[in-house]
Amino acid sequence: MIPQRAQSARSLLFQPFPIGQGGLVLPNRIWLPAMVTWRGTEDGFVTPSVREIYLRYALGGAGMIVLEATGIRDVASGPLLRLSHERFVPGLKALRQEMRAVSASIVVPQIIDFLKIATRKPTRVFMEDAVRRGALAESVLDVSDAEFEAGLERYVQGPRLRHDFLYGYRQTIEDLSREEIRQIPGWFASAARRAKQAGFEGVELHFAHAYTMASFLSVTNGRTDDYGGSFPNRMRLPLEVIRAVREEAGTEFLVGCRYLGSEDIRGEDGQIRGNTLADAQAIGVELARAGLDFLSISRGGKFEDAKQPPIGEAMYPYTGHSGHTCIPRGKNDPFGVNAHLAAGIRQALRAAGFATPVVASGKIVTFDQAEGLLRAGQADLVGMARALLADPDLPLKWQAQADAKARACVFCPFCEQEDQRHRVVTCTLWPKDPADHRRRLTPAAWRPDAPWDPHEAFDATADDL
Ligand SMILES: Cc1cc2nc3c(=O)[nH]c(=O)nc-3n(C[C@H](O)[C@H](O)[C@H](O)COP(=O)(O)O)c2cc1C
Ligand code: SF4
Repeated sequence: MIPQRAQSARSLLFQPFPIGQGGLVLPNRIWLPAMVTWRGTEDGFVTPSVREIYLRYALGGAGMIVLEATGIRDVASGPLLRLSHERFVPGLKALRQEMRAVSASIVVPQIIDFLKIATRKPTRVFMEDAVRRGALAESVLDVSDAEFEAGLERYVQGPRLRHDFLYGYRQTIEDLSREEIRQIPGWFASAARRAKQAGFEGVELHFAHAYTMASFLSVTNGRTDDYGGSFPNRMRLPLEVIRAVREEAGTEFLVGCRYLGSEDIRGEDGQIRGNTLADAQAIGVELARAGLDFLSISRGGKFEDAKQPPIGEAMYPYTGHSGHTCIPRGKNDPFGVNAHLAAGIRQALRAAGFATPVVASGKIVTFDQAEGLLRAGQADLVGMARALLADPDLPLKWQAQADAKARACVFCPFCEQEDQRHRVVTCTLWPKDPADHRRRLTPAAWRPDAPWDPHEAFDATADDL
């Protein structure tokens, strides 16, 4: 039963939640899932802008703050944060200290491995590159761009190269040598050690969406060695990663993961492929058996059904059907649209005798929705990504029963677009910067006694949405 708003003082949402084996307690059950901010330096260091947004989240009082996807390979990856070397520890340590000074939130970085991806090339550049690499005969350069595009099947042998032309080159797990795979657990483990050195209470392993680990877990994993095919083979690398992280960081360090309750890849024939909830339930039981401290359930977000990017841009895995299920924003998507996946996984865990906490997310925005999920036993913790981006103070406002003062996410594409274009992520509902119509100013921290300015709260115009 969904509680009356007046009962919020007795809500489950604001009850503390013990988590992990190190005596940690989340001050409440509101969970900020990872959201890339594109605010680091070009070489992955913390900036004042990174500090600004995470301090803002910390002030808002979410029980758990998952720091955005943070790279574990020491390779150039633009303004994404990184834990791929000791040089990144001091900046992250200072960030964690600042957050601790203002908030009791637990903070863990989401650590990620991803494979190479290139932008889609103009036709002539693609042709010249392919000739240089010996992938196309030199004679192809005598053909005009238009002829090449029209006769693709004739000039480009093999679906892989055609795909590279149409979508841009993308490395897949089937391309990885065993030597490369063997390095991955060590990268995760070293990143976890650095996270611990930086003062974070734990890490979230990124086993979701379009990235390396989710591809290993997927039924679409096409490897023919003992890292692909059967269920135990698909679980092999994730379990190796968990073992390596535990050995490096110990049992008291919080180690959980984010993975997919369903992959929802829509093929050109309209059929849905990839892991289903049943696959995810089996995976969840093995992850719990391996000793993970929490499972955060996401959905979709795959490259396999992403839209063709414009020339000069790389594929973005949130543009196709699976991307839509990952970041739901359709008017017809009900609130809590993905909660049944968390509920199904939680049920399978409990049936197998595991008490591992499960985090649900996906278009959850009001107190009643969040509290209702907990009361119905669909999840142990409530993830709200865009709702907390729109209004980091939701936890404070709900606790003070000042819901009317909340800036409610309208599920527009603005923050996603900024992410896709690798621009600093903000929310269209934040106050506008008078000097630049695209920029938004981080909203000031809310206080119960602060005067209420409705213009600051709802500053979107139809043009923005
Ligand atoms: C701008 C943006 C960046 C995101 N970055 C990440 C990320 O780094 N890691 C991740 O697991 N999910 C990421 N997501 C997905 C969210 O964590 C979340 O699962 C999704 O937005 C659905 O939840 P919501 O409806 O509460 O926003 C991102 C979403 C957005 C909008
Ligand atoms: S930009 Fe739009 S979708 Fe993103 S948090 Fe703000 S209102 Fe929600």
